[in-house]
Amino acid sequence: MSSLLIRNIHLLIHAERNPRTLVKGAEMADLPCLSNAYVLAENGRIKAFGPMADCPERADETIDATGKLVLPAWCDSHTHIVFAATREEEFVDRIRGLSYEEIAERGGGILNSARKLQKATEEELFEGAWQRLQEVIAMGTGAIEVKSGYGLTLDSELKMLRVVRRLKEQSPIPVKATFLGAHAIPMEYKANREAYMSLIIQEMLPQVAAEGLADYCDVFCDKGFFTPEETDRILEAGWKYGLKPKIHANELGLTGGVQAGIARNAISVDHLEYTSEVEIEALLQSNTLPALLPGCAFFLGIPFAPARQMIDAGLPVVLATDFNPGSCPSGNMPFVISLACAKMKMLPEEAINAATLNGARAMELEADYGTIAVGKVANLIITRPMMSLAGLPYAFGSKVVERVIVRGRIV
Ligand code: NIG
Ligand code: FE
Repeated sequence: MSSLLIRNIHLLIHAERNPRTLVKGAEMADLPCLSNAYVLAENGRIKAFGPMADCPERADETIDATGKLVLPAWCDSHTHIVFAATREEEFVDRIRGLSYEEIAERGGGILNSARKLQKATEEELFEGAWQRLQEVIAMGTGAIEVKSGYGLTLDSELKMLRVVRRLKEQSPIPVKATFLGAHAIPMEYKANREAYMSLIIQEMLPQVAAEGLADYCDVFCDKGFFTPEETDRILEAGWKYGLKPKIHANELGLTGGVQAGIARNAISVDHLEYTSEVEIEALLQSNTLPALLPGCAFFLGIPFAPARQMIDAGLPVVLATDFNPGSCPSGNMPFVISLACAKMKMLPEEAINAATLNGARAMELEADYGTIAVGKVANLIITRPMMSLAGLPYAFGSKVVERVIVRGRIV
């Protein structure tokens, strides 16, 4: 038995007596908080929490959190942390005026990452991804989803997913794996898209399923990538192997991606920088979650998704990083939360809900992660001293996360 007691917590954030599984619309501004509180973890799970008046006398290890906030760790439901190399040269090309789509049309972008990944060994890829995982855990991430999609051949997609499997086996935080063979059409298939479609459907998906390498199936359904019809066929094939959809949609235009995901009961449709009332209405009629990635809008200089309208309409918004070498080379969840507040007009409470509980739900992990509730896994963040919750998004770019607890242990 090992126990960890955090005492004198200025504000214990998202402490729930009656655990919720998802928050939507006006509820997103509700964040149960206790002031002058304690939380006790035992054997990796939350054993108790409450006011300091009820604080237990002792534990194996004790931390004093005077003036500080304690929160559930972030649940980052959308990343691409397995990659072979950065794309700094494309960043400079974009500063000089090229767009993300122009770079992609020239064979840069995802295809550039794929060429590099195809040459890398599984060991090299694991090393890089492992380092990124450690980096995001240090910033407070306590659960993560990781996609393939820089392989684009049978062997390389399997290689990526085997790296994700090793992350799952060795990571102290839960890792969910998503198959994204439909991330881009390789150059050699540009004139024959059908051949790549059948490679995905007839060869990649069966093999991925046979080895049990993925939890979810993703498609980049957007202008210049996969059409809604192609997306539908891939998602239908994925479902045959039990892979639920979680897709990329509406990053580059109003392309029908949101509707394509909803039609196949996607857990989430992600990006949504281009969203009209039609998409919002369709989401309201579904169980599909809108997952927003403001780090990508920031880095590419594209519009931010209309989070305010979505929440006002009653939707359950999710926030994630999209950590990848092209459109968001950062896995910094505190910065994502600052962007959500400053650029998308989300309240701090809404942003925290979106980055914890709703993020957990977007990975089907809400029973064990995403809030501070008795019995849930003790993955926690201790901030530096601050007056209120707003101090977290307010101090953008600063090191607001002082300590991270994973399974009841200090990282
Ligand atoms: O989520 N949009 C598609 N995929 C990634 C970017 C991939 C890349 O540029 O390498 C994204 O933005
Ligand atoms: Fe992405």
